[in-house]
Amino acid sequence: MEIIAHPREMQEQARRWREEGRRIAFVPTMGYFHQGHLSLMEYAREIGDRLVVSLFVNPTQFGPTEDLDRYPRDLERDTRLAEEVGVDVLFTPAAEQMYPPGYQTYVTVNGLSQGLCGASRPGHFRGVATVVLKLFNLVMPHVAVFGEKDYQQLVVIKRMVSDLNLPVEVVGCPIVREEDGLAMSSRNTYLNPEERWSARCLYRSLQAAQQLVADGKKTREEILSTVQQIISQTPHTRIDYVALVDPETLQEVAAVQGAARLALAVWVGHTRLIDNTLLVET
Ligand code: PAF
Repeated sequence: MEIIAHPREMQEQARRWREEGRRIAFVPTMGYFHQGHLSLMEYAREIGDRLVVSLFVNPTQFGPTEDLDRYPRDLERDTRLAEEVGVDVLFTPAAEQMYPPGYQTYVTVNGLSQGLCGASRPGHFRGVATVVLKLFNLVMPHVAVFGEKDYQQLVVIKRMVSDLNLPVEVVGCPIVREEDGLAMSSRNTYLNPEERWSARCLYRSLQAAQQLVADGKKTREEILSTVQQIISQTPHTRIDYVALVDPETLQEVAAVQGAARLALAVWVGHTRLIDNTLLVET
């Protein structure tokens, strides 16, 4: 595995691979790998013949009071894990190279970025869309793989790719969970043992919603009130949002008709966790 830190070197490598006719698969990450990241890499390795993983804690997607400085980092461990999965290039640019002095260009995906996480994290998706477009220009992937845990992010990226005619196929992969159902996230490391116990309520509430729909209770009111009740009865939690939305437009829906995404963000102690699931009418 090669580690490339310089954006221009990354682009040159990508260009060489393209000239050789290689299909480049790409997994963008902020590092501190867990099984969720590794599953994206394993999938990407199967669908391309060169695999690039970027590791960049992108400052423009963090708000001023958010956890940029304490975001977990372990380059040595990440390097070892990426090597074990069969990554060809680990791309690790520095913030000064991605955003040199004088930098002033940003990408905004308007409507889709505004609700859900965008409402409590203004500017977040602008930072995400900007860095992902920059990474696409440097890695020049044929296909890029994202996790469905950040469901709104996946929808925003797909919209950007379509709106800007980017020659990249965007693929979403299923959420990977701990044994008790907690969606894997680098931020789970912030939780103390009591909070970690409480955090199980996110997945329990999603499962309860799935059961409701299976029992024919499909209205937004029925679903949201059950989810809210399960979470609010759990110590150390505070709901940021719970929403039932159309899977593509992310607009609120009145009931599960066909399919809907149930998405939530919950503070557990000082840690904000997100999760979601597809609810399908049976
Ligand atoms: O999902 C993430 O880890 C980040 O938002 C991404 C896509 C790597 C952009 O910084």
